[in-house]
Amino acid sequence: MKIFERKGHAVIWGDATEALRQHVPDNSVDLIFADPPYNIGKDFNGNKDRWQSEEEYLKWCYEWLDLCVAKLKPNGSLYIMAATQNMPYFDLYLRKRLHILSRIVWAYDSSGVQARKYFGSLYEPILFCVKDKEGYTFNAEDILVEARTGATRKLIDYRKPVPSMYNTKKVPGNVWNIPRVRYRMPEYENHPTQKPVALLERVIRASSNPADIVLDPFSGTFTTSYVAKRLGRRSVGIEIEEEYVKIGLRRLEIQDTYSGEVLRRPAKSYERQVSLAQQQFALFEEKERWNTSSRR
Ligand SMILES: C[S@@+](CC[C@H](N)C(=O)[O-])C[C@H]1O[C@@H](n2cnc3c(N)ncnc32)[C@H](O)[C@@H]1O
Repeated sequence: MKIFERKGHAVIWGDATEALRQHVPDNSVDLIFADPPYNIGKDFNGNKDRWQSEEEYLKWCYEWLDLCVAKLKPNGSLYIMAATQNMPYFDLYLRKRLHILSRIVWAYDSSGVQARKYFGSLYEPILFCVKDKEGYTFNAEDILVEARTGATRKLIDYRKPVPSMYNTKKVPGNVWNIPRVRYRMPEYENHPTQKPVALLERVIRASSNPADIVLDPFSGTFTTSYVAKRLGRRSVGIEIEEEYVKIGLRRLEIQDTYSGEVLRRPAKSYERQVSLAQQQFALFEEKERWNTSSRR
């Protein structure tokens, strides 16, 4: 296990369970966002997320979930994502240990392959849980969205003593329509299950305050820590894959080199094409200049 730290942000390269046990004190974390491997066969840099059986997978999950609960401060919050088929297990397990306040659906559209013999899966479930339902952070004012009333002009509330405009700002409901991270988006990193900045922004703004500690035990591209940093929180991100740790070190500006390698976001295919075209154009211009000067 290796820890990289800079200005209130820690990247831990190692196993989540071990790191939580060895490096995170009990009752010390304000917010945990856990997006574990789903046991559905994704390819995490060559490591498959597939356990021997569902029981094995759940046993593993319950172990780190117990640790997460222990690490949360008394007023802390936990968000957990999981495959739709596994979420009922987590729901039943966590409701005995925490208060589940929201069952959120992150919904998105897909331009990819569509199911043709059943209704394709276009959402991922998220549980929002707190330790103490009488005392937890929820910054409603920081996450307001425009209510969709269906009307094109502002409605007037005639039930008020003095009729006035309806307040069209509201706290989002539990269906979150946020696009998935696509290849052409600036935030894209090379990871199969990267979560959008917009999703983490809502979670972190709502359930933490500046300088609070936000922890992600399965950081992947370190979106959680990246957003935490942008919003003035402190962060702890744990990840087992070295390639993804390098993404974290770069995104959090902890290091700009790693074992002699310069850490930079790999160019996208179309950026490479552009730079190739630019090189060819520069070469063409150079030749033209040469031809003109030799004709003089
Ligand atoms: C679903 S992805 C998380 C994606 C992340 N939320 C993001 O926005 O990029 C799960 C991550 O957990 C990592 N992982 C798998 N087993 C782990 C373990 N035992 N400890 C720490 N990380 C692990 C995988 O390498 C993968 O990057």
